[in-house]
Amino acid sequence: MCGIIGYCGHRPAVPLVIEGLRRLEYRGYDSAGVSFVQNGELSVIRAEGKLGNLEKKLESRNVFSATSAMGHTRWATHGAPVEKNAHPHLDHTGKLAIIHNGIIENYQAIKAELSAKGIAFRSDTDSEVLVNLIAECLKDTGGDVTLAISAALSRVEGTYAIVVMSLDHPGTLWATRVASPLVMGVGTGENFFGSDIPAFLPYTRDVVFLEDGELVKITATSWEVMDTATLAPIEKTVAHINWDVQAAEKGGYKHFMLKEIFEQPKVIRDCLLGRIDAATGQVRLPELDDMPAPERLHIVACGTSYHAGLWGMYLLEKYAKIPVQVEIASEFRYRDPILPKNGVVLAISQSGETMDTMAGIKLAKSRGLPVIGLCNVVGSSISREADHVVYSQAGPEISVASTKAMCSQLAALLLLTLYWGRRNGAMTEAACADMVRELTSLPALLENALPGLRTSAQHLARRYAEATSFLFLGRGPCYPLALEGALKLKEISYIHAEGYAAGEMKHGPIALIDPRFPTFAIALDDEFFPKVKSNLVEVQARAGEIIALTNEGLDLDVEHPWTLPRANGPLAAFVTLPALQLFAYEMADYLGKDVDQPRNLAKSVTVE
Ligand code: F6R
Repeated sequence: MCGIIGYCGHRPAVPLVIEGLRRLEYRGYDSAGVSFVQNGELSVIRAEGKLGNLEKKLESRNVFSATSAMGHTRWATHGAPVEKNAHPHLDHTGKLAIIHNGIIENYQAIKAELSAKGIAFRSDTDSEVLVNLIAECLKDTGGDVTLAISAALSRVEGTYAIVVMSLDHPGTLWATRVASPLVMGVGTGENFFGSDIPAFLPYTRDVVFLEDGELVKITATSWEVMDTATLAPIEKTVAHINWDVQAAEKGGYKHFMLKEIFEQPKVIRDCLLGRIDAATGQVRLPELDDMPAPERLHIVACGTSYHAGLWGMYLLEKYAKIPVQVEIASEFRYRDPILPKNGVVLAISQSGETMDTMAGIKLAKSRGLPVIGLCNVVGSSISREADHVVYSQAGPEISVASTKAMCSQLAALLLLTLYWGRRNGAMTEAACADMVRELTSLPALLENALPGLRTSAQHLARRYAEATSFLFLGRGPCYPLALEGALKLKEISYIHAEGYAAGEMKHGPIALIDPRFPTFAIALDDEFFPKVKSNLVEVQARAGEIIALTNEGLDLDVEHPWTLPRANGPLAAFVTLPALQLFAYEMADYLGKDVDQPRNLAKSVTVE
């Protein structure tokens, strides 16, 4: 989520690091910072907001003699996006600095332990805890930084990519990763770390891809990779890449949308981070601990976030037994809704800036209802206006058409269902633990499925590229997914599409069906299957062609059955959603449309 760059070489390191951060800005930012050793001093300079603010701060300083430095652009996951929480973070002695991307899940316990030893913390971050833990370990390793990092990380749970700098070793940097991106660039008389290749692409195309649990030490002229736990040396090969900067920003994918669709397994993992009690399999959402499970819930959102909310309604009602009403924010804000005193509003927004959703929140607050924001962007307007915030933790979404953000919203809604279902007694501990177990195995299932889904989507997009209209059908929790499939197709390929509840079709839209009007159905192995099947027979009776997302072994005779891997109950949505997204993506790409920036649309809708 954050941008990381580290440099050891022969050039002025600070300007090089700033320039590298500029190339990583697409990863999102709310603050930025650099650190370097110069004249026997370890300096850290940080600024809130865009990179330009940091550059302004640096203007008045002579920072040209340092030849190693590291820098960071932050996309907040813990702590408000303010300067004290910006990276790098120093330990309490001022001799070690760290930049960190990821989440240390057990940082609170470590922080308590270090605080008891008299260490004072200046930020709210887990990263500052980690650098102090490394500093503590340094006391037992005779000043050996490699050993200290290894010892500290043996105590840490979570995900991270870190780079560490030491005042006592000014020309050396250390880095390691677990489930957060980190690559090394190998140059001549200079070496680099980056969260992404564009960080150092103008200087070298020779890259070492680092794996989880590998620790690397670089100087200007050397690099060594070892096992973080045992420090045993690891042989690595240097790959040569041919990407240009743009391709590198997209991680080699043709578009950000495609990259973000493929990030969904990671998005699910990130959304769960720190929220599952490993021992009991129960959900932790400490941000909501001081309020009871709602007796009634009003979900307010727009567009894709509204579809996520509709999907959440099926879950919350079925499992947590909470009555739910889902509202399109632009309608809700101008109605005179009846909002009972025992109600709670859940506002869902990726950007956290959507004006209609914000207006819905204000209306709810004026009626005395507590508001929970489910947002992706930390520190956004909605997250500040809401009384409680649950972050969806999807990372920056660059493509205008929302994909991975919806996946994270579904994951968060599932967590809310389990959390409230336990708190109000609607779910048993065992039922919750079962669902959590399935949820944690979902990313691997999705990772395996995505390449095959893309191939099917490519094939179908070519077959139907001349269609001018589509009907998307689903029932139950697949109905909101049908709405989303239609929205994705129309917004990026400009092909007209309508999403409909399959059972409603016979009340009107069936009149549209003819051999040139294809239907895209969601007919999975669930309790709705027999009903959906009979709706599809009605389509076939009018000579309509059908693409159906389905599961193996189901008795369904349509032109294009598209078999998805099985996922139980509500988890099927996480496999269905990327199939719908990929179909829209492949169609738009095949038709030569501007996938990442479709006409007439904006990423953040801050107007009425
Ligand atoms: C569709 C899309 C939009 C947004 C909507 C709400 O791909 O991106 O429909 O979902 O504008 O935006 P947020 O979630 O930022 O409030």
